[in-house]
Amino acid sequence: MRNGTFRARQPDISTRIRHFGMNTGFNLGRSQRGQKAPFNFVLDHELSELRLLLERQAGVLLNSPQDVLIAKIQEYLEARRLNSVADLIGRLQTSDTECERLLEQLLEGETGFFRHPAAFAAFEKEVLPELHVRKGSEGGQSLRILSAGCSTGEEAYSIGLSVCCNVNENGAAWTIHILASDIRQGALTFAERGLYKQRELENLSPSLLRDYFAKVDQHFLAKPRLRNLITFTQMNLARPAYLGRFDCIFCMDVLPCFSTAQRIALAQRLHLYLEPGGYLLLGDGEKLPTADVPFQSESHKNLTLYRKPFAAAAKAGKLF
Ligand SMILES: C[S@@+](CC[C@H](N)C(=O)[O-])C[C@H]1O[C@@H](n2cnc3c(N)ncnc32)[C@H](O)[C@@H]1O
Repeated sequence: MRNGTFRARQPDISTRIRHFGMNTGFNLGRSQRGQKAPFNFVLDHELSELRLLLERQAGVLLNSPQDVLIAKIQEYLEARRLNSVADLIGRLQTSDTECERLLEQLLEGETGFFRHPAAFAAFEKEVLPELHVRKGSEGGQSLRILSAGCSTGEEAYSIGLSVCCNVNENGAAWTIHILASDIRQGALTFAERGLYKQRELENLSPSLLRDYFAKVDQHFLAKPRLRNLITFTQMNLARPAYLGRFDCIFCMDVLPCFSTAQRIALAQRLHLYLEPGGYLLLGDGEKLPTADVPFQSESHKNLTLYRKPFAAAAKAGKLF
């Protein structure tokens, strides 16, 4: 993924203890030659304390593999010129800003335009046509879509492009509103700019690129006709919020950041945010713990499509 707000500075070798490799929980001390040996900056108990603190303060669980997490924490300590995890923990206890900064780095993950092909294929071939016909016949020509965990905006702009091509082409008069949210303000600031490198747009056809992006030096900027469909907003999906109801929610590659219990709570919340008959799209290959949540589901090759039942169908336990 693209660089977030923070970049690690190179360690100042003369004044800082250097630290390498995987966390063993041991300070290896001095080598036989009397030089400082590789030092593990993040001890096991410090990592546990950090995890607990972020869970308590932000409701966020750090589920990345331990070595990845430690590398990111070390990078953060360097970037913020902090001497130890204890210093970081002290700051986190008194500063929400520090907490946000750290999460910016720890939660950064992969993203891209049309990154989940099966989900976008289902969106364009099944979800949008059904919503278009049903909502059109009800006389309401509007669609509300949520991109939950939108990162630096590629997912939200991809949704916008799909809608433009499949619903609003030929200037049809539908009102489209895409709300795109993430916990990381730095990612959202990037998303709001809508400025991407050419290689990040390689999944787009030349005509989509021409119609919806303007070339600015070596980059491409989302044109107002695409940009204006989307509102970016900061939101922690681990906490309840009132957002109104949506016809479709994308929540792709976000579940790995949540514990099993949090996933169930999130599934319940997303169910609440959907209109009856509304759709939930996860990333390709992802599944929701639905035992306690009344979603209907339909399995495709590499995708499970979830739908909030209409009241009558829910009672009868029918699928789509
Ligand atoms: C791996 S990226 C996926 C981005 C995009 N959905 C995609 O599939 O390309 C996961 C995103 O989830 C966001 N995220 C993680 N925990 C979150 C939370 N509790 N609330 C909101 N966003 C969260 C991260 O900030 C990150 O941008």
